[in-house]
Amino acid sequence: MVGGAALLGAALTFGAARALTDAQAARGALAYAQSCASCHGPRGDDGFAPALVGADSLRRFAGTRELYAYTRGTMPLAAPGSLSAQVYLDLTAWMLQQRGAAADGAELTAATLDATPLDPARASTPAAAEADGRRSLRVVRSSFSEPAPHLAHNLPDLRATIDGQTAACDFLAHYHATGGLRRWGFPTSEVLEERPNAFTQYYQRGVVDCHQRAGAWRMERRLAWDYLGGGVGGAPDLGVEPELLSGQPGERLGPWGHRVSNAAVDGTPIGFLDFFQALGGVASFGFPKTEARRDDDPRAVLGVPGASPGFIRQYFQSSVLEYHPGDPEPVKLRLLGDDLRNRLYPQQAYRAFASFGPARPLGAGAAYAPERVTVPSAA
Ligand code: HEC
Repeated sequence: MVGGAALLGAALTFGAARALTDAQAARGALAYAQSCASCHGPRGDDGFAPALVGADSLRRFAGTRELYAYTRGTMPLAAPGSLSAQVYLDLTAWMLQQRGAAADGAELTAATLDATPLDPARASTPAAAEADGRRSLRVVRSSFSEPAPHLAHNLPDLRATIDGQTAACDFLAHYHATGGLRRWGFPTSEVLEERPNAFTQYYQRGVVDCHQRAGAWRMERRLAWDYLGGGVGGAPDLGVEPELLSGQPGERLGPWGHRVSNAAVDGTPIGFLDFFQALGGVASFGFPKTEARRDDDPRAVLGVPGASPGFIRQYFQSSVLEYHPGDPEPVKLRLLGDDLRNRLYPQQAYRAFASFGPARPLGAGAAYAPERVTVPSAA
């Protein structure tokens, strides 16, 4: 097996220094022989149980903390947790040493367990994962629209399989469940990848992510306002408006005591609550950070630089509602997706990426390769 030999060669060179000592690893080797070798084999890769040594072993563990926790919670198979915490640390040190980690002079302790990839050189980059089949994305179905030549984009439901876990990144279903065109406008990008294993689509009025958070895959609207005036990603934090509360009936939502109502602070009928509820509520807009009031109210603090004055506006974590009297559809949403894209990719830097340009229709069942883009403002 030529490939295997090459990988093993790599295994010996990628040994980043780790908190462990040779003496600790030697203690671990002894414990291994007593409690583990019967299943994992005398060498660690020659038993009936999965190999614990070698470049292809243990790659599903994000770091030493997870490896230690798994081993202590599950092994030895017949008596999980039956060894002392110190012995589990020693065993972990031995496994690390077996994969080429260099001793850095201090023992591995509960405090030095971490989430650094076990093999930095082979860290599970999306490209490496795709190359060896640990990651794949597939189109379940897709809706293609081309309202203007430069807005030719797909809205897909994707199935992602990453290291044995399957995620439903259903952008199309999410779009329709949270207000569709009225809420989001048209897509302005394909589904792309700004961070490893997080998938994102830009729309005119917002941004949606399919990502892993708190241990589960979720479809979530980006808190787009917070990137402009809520202190996220270097934006100024314009806060909320505790002095400006409305006496109008409505729904008080979220931590700031603000209310979503069909009437503005000054009593103008605006229909914001009906609009909010019809288009997905908090899941779609986030919590209100102001009441519905004019930006030129002396007590108002939040505002989009350059926005035309005089409109009744209400600011939510991921959207801004505007009231246009006399318009057949008087409630408008600011194009926060465009605002956010322009902020993250200044000077039209997004144009460097094919995903923001016109696309061709995707076929159901096809493999999907999201473009990996670099967010210039985060670089
Ligand atoms: C009775 C047999 C048996 C013994 C003894 C045993 N293991 Fe295991 N071990 C297994 C099996 C089977 C699996 C695979 C479990 C699975 O995939 O759910 C496993 C999985 C593992 C894994 C995860 C491997 C991977 O890549 O997923 C680690 C780490 C591990 N064992 C460490 C140990 C250590 C350390 C000891 C000694 C304290 C030990 N095991 C003792 C049978 C055993």
